[in-house]
Amino acid sequence: MKARQIKTNIYCVGAIDWDRRLFDALIPLPDGTSYNAYLVQGTQKVALIDTVDPSKTEVLMGYLADVPVIDYVIANHAEQDHSGSIPHVLAKYPDAKVVTTPKCRDLLASLLLISENRFITVSDGETLSLGNKTLEFIYAPWVHWPETMLTYLREDKILLTCDLFGSHLATTDLYVTNEGQAYESAKRYYAEIMMPFHTIIEKHLEKLGSYKIDVIAPSHGPMYDKPSFILEAYRSWTSGPLKNIVVVPYISMHGSTQKMVEYFVGALTGKGVTVKQFNLAATDIGKLAMALVDAATVVIGTPTVLVGPHPNIAYAAFLANALRPRLQFVSIIGSYGWGSKAVEQLTGMISNLKAEVLAPVISKGFPREDDFKALDNLVNAIVEKHKERGFA
Ligand code: FEO
Repeated sequence: MKARQIKTNIYCVGAIDWDRRLFDALIPLPDGTSYNAYLVQGTQKVALIDTVDPSKTEVLMGYLADVPVIDYVIANHAEQDHSGSIPHVLAKYPDAKVVTTPKCRDLLASLLLISENRFITVSDGETLSLGNKTLEFIYAPWVHWPETMLTYLREDKILLTCDLFGSHLATTDLYVTNEGQAYESAKRYYAEIMMPFHTIIEKHLEKLGSYKIDVIAPSHGPMYDKPSFILEAYRSWTSGPLKNIVVVPYISMHGSTQKMVEYFVGALTGKGVTVKQFNLAATDIGKLAMALVDAATVVIGTPTVLVGPHPNIAYAAFLANALRPRLQFVSIIGSYGWGSKAVEQLTGMISNLKAEVLAPVISKGFPREDDFKALDNLVNAIVEKHKERGFA
């Protein structure tokens, strides 16, 4: 396939992965993904910005078949879905150097066994001239690993962001064409990959405010020719107001927890609270992560299995703890047969969440009147707390 030109002498040379359904052996990819790489030909030098996943090396090398020289391979991020084809590029172009941050150099040397003499390291704000095109390197750690940077093409005003602003979306469209779909994919991606770093991303967004950007070109999913679309979305996800939403991930084995969840969700809904309910026996974990981006509260529903929470619930709690959503309140509802330490164990698993724990409701066996009263109290407490904080 012929490489598609984005602007004069700037080409998209990445690969679309229509079939991939799991990333990092963890994250569901219902819509596939892409590994975008960009070729920038200046009047004096040529740079390749990021590469592709090793499973798609042939696609990249096909695009480069008629490219006689590459002087620089810019590595914005060391993870293998972007760096994995660098060794093939270096083998084809023996004089090419990998341009990256010192931290990324160290990671690439250890992950891909690239020798030290193939690297040039750059500092934050440093520039590299290709002749009529200038690359500016902007340090942006933790999007998604500690070594990450962005590359800004000054003359063309294109910001190449690698994982930041990405979306796992396989499409032949170079740019976003369907904003609804793009928003959904980008939010899912943010929830799964970027949310743990929301505080630092807020600072990156501030820093980017001083750049004139015509196009944002991430290394997953389509590019943004209206950058404000994704910049505004990120501002809202990282620091916008939380919403009057309660997320209820739950499991039920014999119906007791199910009954409590149904009652609880009905009561919350009756008081004007939006509820997102996820039965973890059948839930796409990415949807749950997305729901956590702007919800004010999570209430976990679990039966007791061998005195602890159900293992699927433990998994979801562990994941939520790692994703560090901005939740303000958490609670637990559920049931047990003869004894339970589910509440103690679950609260121990979510210590990263800076959220107030509201009184849990745990029923012995099938819930009775007292349990429903306790659920009403929890509902009232949530409604009150949301009002106090102004969550609308
Ligand atoms: Fe798309 Fe962190 O790699």
